[in-house]
Amino acid sequence: MGCKGDVAIVTGAASGIGQAVAVNLSKQGVHVVLVDLNACEKTIELLEDGSYLECLGDIREEEFVKATVKRTVEKFGEVHILVNNAGTCSRKDIETMTADDWSRDIDTNLKATFLFTQACVYPHMKEAEYGRIINISSISGINGGVVSGQEDGSGRSGPAYSASKGGVIALTKWVAKELGPFGITCNSVAPGAVETAITAGVPYSLDSQAVKRIGVPHDIAEAVSYFASRKSSYTTAQVLKVDGGNAIG
Ligand SMILES: NC(=O)c1ccc[n+]([C@@H]2O[C@H](COP(=O)([O-])OP(=O)(O)OC[C@H]3O[C@@H](n4cnc5c(N)ncnc54)[C@H](O)[C@@H]3O)[C@@H](O)[C@H]2O)c1
Repeated sequence: MGCKGDVAIVTGAASGIGQAVAVNLSKQGVHVVLVDLNACEKTIELLEDGSYLECLGDIREEEFVKATVKRTVEKFGEVHILVNNAGTCSRKDIETMTADDWSRDIDTNLKATFLFTQACVYPHMKEAEYGRIINISSISGINGGVVSGQEDGSGRSGPAYSASKGGVIALTKWVAKELGPFGITCNSVAPGAVETAITAGVPYSLDSQAVKRIGVPHDIAEAVSYFASRKSSYTTAQVLKVDGGNAIG
């Protein structure tokens, strides 16, 4: 895909979509920085011969974010690609959600996306006049919260999740406008239901979906690869739904 030798920070790389993104980029010759709260040993096993750096910590903490970008540049010299993927999803409704529940999703999904973008761009990507920022949002950020097949409605992604992902989409467009003149693109992939820890035990109906299966992490990783590529330089501010046609119409 034209990103061999580039350096990518991938948050949430210990599992699910982040793991698939890191492995897919590594297969294309990208040096990957694996960021997560949890150890990334399963991801590292899948990297084949790729070079990597593991940075463990909480992406809601500004000092951790800055230290991660510093370690990346110390080890690899540059950072070309940022994939803001790590996320949490409370499924409580607005009546029962607490302020702490709200903050967890907003800070993990939205604030950390801002923090990593700031730390990667200023000064590194801006000085290099090159960058590819990919933010993983969700169709919940477009349609107000995916309703699962659960009869009591309990599987629906909650209001903080939906608001955070809507915020990620707006931030993607803001950043794209701001940084386009400096050779930096910013795009978002908005997944539908994908089999990972976040969706474990939550049944999804395929009735209104064109493709009659639930997504797998690699489906999302392939979309990320395009946005991460040097060949996608005229594509920015886009939100690509990868949802099996769930969000049609
Ligand atoms: N799976 C789906 O159906 C689906 C649908 C739409 C969007 N998404 C989005 O995809 C992204 C990846 O989710 P996933 O489905 O792979 O889930 P996942 O739970 O498998 O992966 C999330 C990863 O983020 C890490 N993480 C969470 N909070 C963190 C923090 N504060 N600091 C550092 N790491 C942290 C977790 O440890 C985990 O490894 C999320 O942003 C999620 O909202 C997923």
